[in-house]
Amino acid sequence: MTPDQPSVNLQPTLRDYESRARAMLSVDRSAYFFGGAADERTLEANQQAFSKLVLLPRALRDVRGGSAGQVLLGQPMPHPILVAPVAYQRLVHPDGEIAMAIGAGAQDTAMVLSAQSSIDAAEIRAAGDTCNWFQLYWGPSRDANLALVSRMADLGFTAIVLTVDAPVQGVRDRETRTGFRLPPDIAAVNLAGMPDPQFAPLAPTESILFDRIAHITPQWTDVEWLCRNSPLPVILKGIVHPADARKAIEAGGSAIIVSNHGGRVLDTMPASISLLPAVARAVDGAVPVLMDGGIRRGTDVLKALALGATAVLAGRLAIAGLTVAGAAGVSHVLKLLRDEFEIAMMLTGCATLKDITPDILYRNE
Ligand code: GLV
Repeated sequence: MTPDQPSVNLQPTLRDYESRARAMLSVDRSAYFFGGAADERTLEANQQAFSKLVLLPRALRDVRGGSAGQVLLGQPMPHPILVAPVAYQRLVHPDGEIAMAIGAGAQDTAMVLSAQSSIDAAEIRAAGDTCNWFQLYWGPSRDANLALVSRMADLGFTAIVLTVDAPVQGVRDRETRTGFRLPPDIAAVNLAGMPDPQFAPLAPTESILFDRIAHITPQWTDVEWLCRNSPLPVILKGIVHPADARKAIEAGGSAIIVSNHGGRVLDTMPASISLLPAVARAVDGAVPVLMDGGIRRGTDVLKALALGATAVLAGRLAIAGLTVAGAAGVSHVLKLLRDEFEIAMMLTGCATLKDITPDILYRNE
């Protein structure tokens, strides 16, 4: 190739992964992983809100000996980027959650295993020690929930991520239009024998949704009970109101994840990053506050930390990596994101995570 020939994009950049993944997946699977609820306003807002935040670097600060590392819930983490829980990963790659765990492990980070994992948790844990937070949807039986949590503790998981924002599935128009259905060989194998905790919308002939669901949706008393009885710390995911953040701590939660479920549940909620500052203020350092939703760039990670996050979770980016190249793709995406984040830290004059404050955000005043 001569220098003036157009360059061929042999190695995907962070931006390329999602478009490549969408092109590789069938239209219905792409709808499932990359779509959101209803008109997808929240899905769009998650990324748009990051773009609207702009950075104001400080020059010539000394960043020698700097690091993006911290200890999170007792676990040393060299960077603040975790892999968000995403269901049914064998839909995008035959090695599914095992490849995701290996890719995350290669970048020294924790992967949160979805309750709706398409591979048994024991098999995933056997592949490495990196998938160690387990996401739980509250099922109708307290004992069955606790038995599942205890099984995960025995397998070496170190935390439970209780998702509290989706007692019922969102209105998934894109999935409906494209006819998304799970194929017969893919299921939530870790929940075998348990009632499906996340209820799909009713068919037109079924009875009233409230009658079927309202009496089994979890409440604060269930969260308190779980925190009291769980052998593992419980992290509450999907907390967006400052008053709920305070309740989560009172109930015994060990951390909070500010999340609108990637825009997949209640459409027209604000972007996660817009919800973060008030929750962080309410928590006031009592427990770690994580966030997910819209993370696509290292600068997004920096902005989240500037607004009070302790760490972030990336879901769709990791799924894009998994789709394109299995474990290697996941690892590459996370490495690119981490490198971008460290570059952004240095360019804004932040040597450590503690140096990342709201001062690095530009206010037009
Ligand atoms: C499951 O959590 C989903 O958002 O589909």
